[in-house]
Amino acid sequence: MLRIGLVGIGFMGRVHMLSFTDKPMIPNAYVKNGKLVAVCDIDSKKLEQAKKEIPSLEIFSDYKEMLASGKVDAVIIATPHYLHPLMGIEALKNKIPVLIEKPVGVFTKNVFELNEVASQNPDVVFGLLFNQRTNPFFVKAKEIIDNDGIGKLKRMNWMITNWYRPQKYYDNGSWRGTWAGEGGGVLMNQAPHQIDLWQWLCGMPTKVRAYCKFGKNRNVEVETDVTAYVEYPDGGSGVFVTSTHDAPGTNRLELIGNNGKIVIENEILSYKKLLVPENKLNETATANLMDPKNAPQFEEVIYTKKELGDIPWGVEHAITIENWINTIEGKEELIAPGIEGVKALELINSMLLSTFLDKEIELPIDSNKYYEELMKKCEKSEFKDTWRV
Ligand SMILES: NC(=O)c1ccc[n+]([C@@H]2O[C@H](COP(=O)([O-])OP(=O)(O)OC[C@H]3O[C@@H](n4cnc5c(N)ncnc54)[C@H](O)[C@@H]3O)[C@@H](O)[C@H]2O)c1
Repeated sequence: MLRIGLVGIGFMGRVHMLSFTDKPMIPNAYVKNGKLVAVCDIDSKKLEQAKKEIPSLEIFSDYKEMLASGKVDAVIIATPHYLHPLMGIEALKNKIPVLIEKPVGVFTKNVFELNEVASQNPDVVFGLLFNQRTNPFFVKAKEIIDNDGIGKLKRMNWMITNWYRPQKYYDNGSWRGTWAGEGGGVLMNQAPHQIDLWQWLCGMPTKVRAYCKFGKNRNVEVETDVTAYVEYPDGGSGVFVTSTHDAPGTNRLELIGNNGKIVIENEILSYKKLLVPENKLNETATANLMDPKNAPQFEEVIYTKKELGDIPWGVEHAITIENWINTIEGKEELIAPGIEGVKALELINSMLLSTFLDKEIELPIDSNKYYEELMKKCEKSEFKDTWRV
């Protein structure tokens, strides 16, 4: 059985660690096809606790030592975001398959370096923990879109404001909510999942204009509130809204094509297909607009957890880890290939850059410019560690 090492056993790392035991933190979140043999953290108390819980574990305080030890066949990285590309590069250079937590990094410049090392080592499996790609609602939406179920995409709106985070959440870790420690706020920590799904479903836009509010309603340096407008190459447009302080918040995805529409909200996916395609609609029927007969006719299919199945948070992660292990063993393909992580990050960086420079950003983003602007923020940051270099 594959011997797995885990770097970072904080909140998320503990969920992963316990998934390898018979007492997972989240019910039914078991990883059964690999054996966790080693953990690494710079916090010795966490290491002691891990050793108490799983006495067979080897413990390391230096991830490079773990990678060089010959004791692990593959490694999961669950440290703060700035470290992801550095640790990923080290693993790939050591020919050790790696699964990195989201986001893949904080700025595209060093993620391109990570992807370069990945492309030089194509046989070393590099995955990302974009666990929401296993969510049955988004899997269904992708299936409908890929089967041309809504036609050419016109409008792609997502409001995701229900991942509420109180001030205490930010105060829990010195790195959180700071430019130098975290490199961003809601875009970098909570929304990468949705931003990845957005591009997974709709592709990449070519223009981004965003308004990020820094420290709105929370005592933090970074963005807690974002409204972004994007344009796609073939004329489609989209709006992405996110925040950590709306209560009660909303999570509504609406994708409209020229042939139908998908809405996902409150664990319901509604799929409406036009009975007469848009280009054949009777545009002359203006005589009585109030007559429902003159409205575009459609058929609707509703999907709930009953039809699609239920994969709770935590179980999604275990499935993603099992998929990565199966891919290493040649049995499956990755749900979230590592090299795709840069796409969500490019969108995140462009939303921030658009706000920093107060202008529209064209993609591909100027990675050097973004890095330069981010470093200006880091210089004034409260967080003084140098882990970003
Ligand atoms: N996929 C998800 O649903 C999900 C959910 C939460 C967090 N995350 C991601 O997981 C990562 C960690 O987040 P968290 O909430 O667990 O943070 P955390 O602060 O609770 O844990 C981070 C851990 O990394 C350790 N660490 C820091 N530097 C290290 C180093 N050089 N070597 C080894 N260990 C080091 C810290 O001591 C800490 O134990 C973040 O990138 C976050 O985005 C993903």
